[in-house]
Amino acid sequence: MPRVELRNVSKRFGKIVAVDTTNITIENGEYLSIVGPSGCGKTTLVKLISGVWEPTEGEILIDGKKVNKVPTEDRDLGYVFQSIALFPHMSVWENTIYSPYVKNKPEDERQRIGEDSLRLVNLLEKKGLFPSQLSGGAQQKVGLARALSSKAKLLILDEPLSALDARVRIDLRYELRRLVKRLGLTAIHVTHDQEEALSVADRTVVMRKGRIVEKGSPRQLYERPSHLFTANFVGEANFLEGNIKTKSEEWCSVELRNQQFLSVHPTNAKVGDPVVLFIRPENLRFCREFKANSLPGTVKEVQFMGSYLRYKVMLETEETALVDLQIPHERINAGERVMVEFDPIDTIMYERPPEGLREVLRLE
Ligand SMILES: Nc1ncnc2c1ncn2[C@@H]1O[C@H](COP(=O)(O)OP(=O)(O)OP(=O)(O)O)[C@@H](O)[C@H]1O
Ligand SMILES: [Mg+2]
Repeated sequence: MPRVELRNVSKRFGKIVAVDTTNITIENGEYLSIVGPSGCGKTTLVKLISGVWEPTEGEILIDGKKVNKVPTEDRDLGYVFQSIALFPHMSVWENTIYSPYVKNKPEDERQRIGEDSLRLVNLLEKKGLFPSQLSGGAQQKVGLARALSSKAKLLILDEPLSALDARVRIDLRYELRRLVKRLGLTAIHVTHDQEEALSVADRTVVMRKGRIVEKGSPRQLYERPSHLFTANFVGEANFLEGNIKTKSEEWCSVELRNQQFLSVHPTNAKVGDPVVLFIRPENLRFCREFKANSLPGTVKEVQFMGSYLRYKVMLETEETALVDLQIPHERINAGERVMVEFDPIDTIMYERPPEGLREVLRLE
C-alpha cells in the first residue's frame, strides 16, 4: 500500500527552481490536494513523484524504498496529466484499457475494468469514438478512466477536472473521493480551484514559489490558517493593518488606520507591534448603530452571488471589507453608511511581516 515520502526534494530547470527543498509524507490511504498559484511548482512536484522527472536533489520514497531512478512504468501508479495526453490513434475503449492490456490481463478482466471505469465517468456509450471526436471535458474523463483502469493503488491527478462544466466538476469530485476511499487508494490531486482542493481532500497543501507554505486539514487551512498567504489563497479574505495599543490577559486592543480600534484575542505579539487582522466575509455582519468592535464605512457595491449578497464596504480605515450576507429582508444599497461588526472569535491576528502585507500575499 503506497506511502509517499519526499525528503528535501528540489527540481531545477537551469536557473528556475521549480520545487525547492520540499519535505512531505503522504500517508497510505490519504487523499491529499495541492493548491497554489500558476507556476508555483505543483505539476513539477507530481511529475517528480510519478517519475517523469528525477529530482535535482533529495530523495523520493514509495513504501520506504528510494525510487529516484525508478521509471514511471515501474512505480505502479495511475496518472492523469494536466494536458490530457490521450493516445490520438486509439479509441476511447483502447485508451481506457491501455494499462490492463499492456499488463496482459485476461480478456474478461480487461472488459470488466474498462466497463467499470467508463461507466464511472459516464462514457461507456462513447467507447468507439476517438479523442478528436470528443469535447475537452469528455477527453479529460477518458484520461481519468484510463488512470483508474491501471488499478494502481497510487493515483496522481493533475487538474483532472479543469476542462469540465462547473456542475459536472462538482459531481465528479465527490465521485472521485468516494471511489478513492472505497478502493483504499492514496490520491494526490493538484488543482488551482481552492474550493475543489478543500472539498475533495483529507489534507491540503498550499504551495508558493516552489515551496510548501502550509499543510493541514481543509477546515484548519480555511478557518485558522497559520500564514497570511494561505488565508488569502484558500478563500475570500479581509485584512486590516494596525498596531497593538494595549494588551491584557483576555484582550488586545488594535489601533487601525485613522484612529479606528478593534479588540481581539491576544497572541504573543507585544504592545506596539505591527499586526494584521484577518476575517472571512461570511463572519462579518452589519449592525444598526455604533457598538464595541464595529467599524463605520460606506457600501460601495452590492453583488448578487446566488444564495447570498456580497457587500463591498469602504471602511474609515481606508481599507475595503467584503461582507457576505444571506439575502436579508432589509435592503442595503450602495452609498449607504453602515457599521460592520467584527466578532473577536472569528478575527485572527498575525504579526505584520516586515516585507509588508502586499508582498506576502503576492501570487507570483
Ligand atoms: N520542462 C521544463 N523546463 C523548464 N522550466 C520548466 C519546465 N517545467 C516547468 N518549468 C518551470 O517550473 C515552474 C513550475 O512549473 P509547474 O508546471 O510545476 O507549475 P504549476 O504550479 O503546475 O503551474 P500551473 O498551475 O500553471 O499548471 C515554472 O516556472 C515553469 O515555467
Ligand atoms: Mg500545472
